[in-house]
Amino acid sequence: MSFETLGLSQSVLQALALKEYTQPSPIQAQAIPILLQGRDLLGIAQTGTGKTAAFMLPSIDRLTESKKRPAPRSCRMLVLAPTRELASQIAESARGYSRFSHMSVATVFGGTSINKNRQDVQRGVDVLVATPGRLIDLIEQRHLNLDSVEILVLDEADQMLDLGFIHALKQIVRLLPTKRQTLFFSATMPKTIRDLADKFLTDPAQVAVTPVASTAERVDQFVTFVNQPEKPALLTMMLRYGFGPQGSMDRVLIFSRTKHGADRIVKQLAASAIPANAIHGNKSQPQRERALGEFKSGKVKILIATDIAARGIDVSGVSHVINFDLPNVPEQYVHRIGRTARAGAAGVAIAFCAEDERAYLKGIEKLTKQKIAIEALPENFNNEANKIRSQVKAHPEAAAAQEREERYQETGRHQRPAKRFSAKPAGASAGPGAARGGPGGNRGGQGAGRGGPGGGRGGRNAGRSQGAGQGQGRREAR
Ligand SMILES: Nc1ncnc2c1ncn2[C@@H]1O[C@H](COP(=O)(O)OP(=O)(O)OP(=O)(O)O)[C@@H](O)[C@H]1O
Ligand SMILES: [Mg+2]
Repeated sequence: MSFETLGLSQSVLQALALKEYTQPSPIQAQAIPILLQGRDLLGIAQTGTGKTAAFMLPSIDRLTESKKRPAPRSCRMLVLAPTRELASQIAESARGYSRFSHMSVATVFGGTSINKNRQDVQRGVDVLVATPGRLIDLIEQRHLNLDSVEILVLDEADQMLDLGFIHALKQIVRLLPTKRQTLFFSATMPKTIRDLADKFLTDPAQVAVTPVASTAERVDQFVTFVNQPEKPALLTMMLRYGFGPQGSMDRVLIFSRTKHGADRIVKQLAASAIPANAIHGNKSQPQRERALGEFKSGKVKILIATDIAARGIDVSGVSHVINFDLPNVPEQYVHRIGRTARAGAAGVAIAFCAEDERAYLKGIEKLTKQKIAIEALPENFNNEANKIRSQVKAHPEAAAAQEREERYQETGRHQRPAKRFSAKPAGASAGPGAARGGPGGNRGGQGAGRGGPGGGRGGRNAGRSQGAGQGQGRREAR
């Protein structure tokens, strides 16, 4: 199967040649011919398998064919995405794919100047990629209208149809022509959201390359059971090993449940002289861009993120994803670990699971229909963890962060896992450490452990972790 047989134009094929794509991925092979016919589509395929090109390439050709010019303050194709970073990335891909098709592409999302947005759309654009909140601002200020949208795309469709966005989405859809092509794409699609999706689609074709919520194929997954208060020490050990001579870490994305938690991890790592950046919704736009930029360029190889970075973000060379906290929404796990093992590459995903996160783990295993392999704590874990903790204590900022962590743990509430998509904090507490293990990180697989010296029994501290808000990254209001 080649791109030539799918019915794409020469201009698009030329752009693909420049990108050195030789073969369409399964979602591209299945979706492109359907989309070229102008049908609505619900496309489900694993993370990192090229869904962006699956919706952009045929859309570029359809826009070219219809030979219309965008009217002032309007767009012909509207792509909605849940976060600024993803919107920006999709626009960049659209520019690459339409390089020889001469499409104008603009982005509209919060954290940037609305005046600049206004200027960007003033003369009309072919492709507009937006987050819903800023898009609505622009429309309400009469700088943009959606009367001539020919194609609507919801990337990460299940999230766009979920509580955080559905209201804005309905508002936007009311402004669109009813005669349009509508495309929904995601790696996950919970049943309830699927039913809702049908209300926005007209006689849609459905393409599901693999069962919904299948994890990326070439990602090795592990879980280590660890007491919540010991997670920072385990992380430090793992990173030291993974970036050491025997390790195989290259770029590591670490997910924290909360924004404060992400900042705490950065400080705790700094105390052990491990540089890392954080990206989350409390950071300014320039800080967010810098953190992601430095991670992409490899200047800072460790990025601590909330779920803001869980979906869609495409950074090549992410060797490991570490779930410092497990997400309470199982679909988020699929997206988070999908930041590695993209475009045919391999990757490793390691989850830290405290006692009261076990229900989340079960939920994840049920959704993905996989059992995650248990990786024991390293043999020398208790000694090493003590050393690391005393290092942290010697470092004032990190000590303060650690103290806060401990205070949270003391006051943290035991909670059952929050309901799916609840925006409420879900607590996590730690019980007796149960598992054995070694610090992960060795993709090549060294001896028994994916990482290091494994074998010893985990510590038996009791502790509690902070209440933690899930979902902050799922919702980008502006
Ligand atoms: N046919 C192809 N050949 C080679 N590389 C490709 C091909 N299609 C896409 N890619 C590359 O694969 C990577 C992943 O693509 P993309 O971000 O579209 O994945 P996705 O399916 O949208 O993943 P996610 O579910 O995480 O959003 C990108 O770097 C993209 O350039
Ligand atoms: Mg995507």
